[in-house]
Amino acid sequence: MSDLDVLIRVYEARDLEVLRDLTVASFGSVAVDEMLEERFGVWNGRDWKARKADHIDEDVAANAGGCFVAECEGRVVGYVTTRVDRVNGIGRIPNLAVAESMRGRGLGRRLIEHALGFFREAGMGLAKIETMASNPIGQKLYPACGFEEVGRQVHYAMRL
Ligand SMILES: CC(C)(COP(=O)(O)OP(=O)(O)OC[C@H]1O[C@@H](n2cnc3c(N)ncnc32)[C@H](O)[C@@H]1OP(=O)(O)O)[C@@H](O)C(=O)NCCC(=O)NCCS
Repeated sequence: MSDLDVLIRVYEARDLEVLRDLTVASFGSVAVDEMLEERFGVWNGRDWKARKADHIDEDVAANAGGCFVAECEGRVVGYVTTRVDRVNGIGRIPNLAVAESMRGRGLGRRLIEHALGFFREAGMGLAKIETMASNPIGQKLYPACGFEEVGRQVHYAMRL
């Protein structure tokens, strides 16, 4: 990341639309919501992009102070969101994305490390992150950041 002048800062309300757009542009084939649409089509008049973008609204509603954005030359180019379970001492990273043009330069790792620092400061004893088995980048990046695989989950759905 030495060649990039990137600032990681706390989320602000003005970032919301940018983060929603970045999410829709970034996820696609690695989002369970997109897989549901691929299999079952659109229902309820809302496509996978609308549902996936809503995850960001949920993240900031739940823990805005634990959402961080990466800014490069005044432009938001990535983000990481977190949840802090103080009762159980578990920090979780629900969403992480880096703009396609900025990938492969260590920014994803920096955002994860920032979230881990935030968890440590909050006194968490464990950090969790999930990825789809179809996402090869997560399966390389997360162990590289120190996470260990502990189990695999299978997603089921049916049309009603
Ligand atoms: C996941 C994501 C945030 C990573 O961002 P990034 O800035 O590219 O991350 P980094 O540069 O720190 O690291 C990416 C690593 O994945 C590796 N990688 C890239 N493409 C890969 C592929 N197809 N298969 C396996 N590894 C791959 C890179 O080589 C790099 O590892 P390295 O540092 O050992 O070389 C970004 O790819 C993204 O936004 N993806 C879409 C959304 C997403 O999948 N989010 C996570 C959901 S679980």
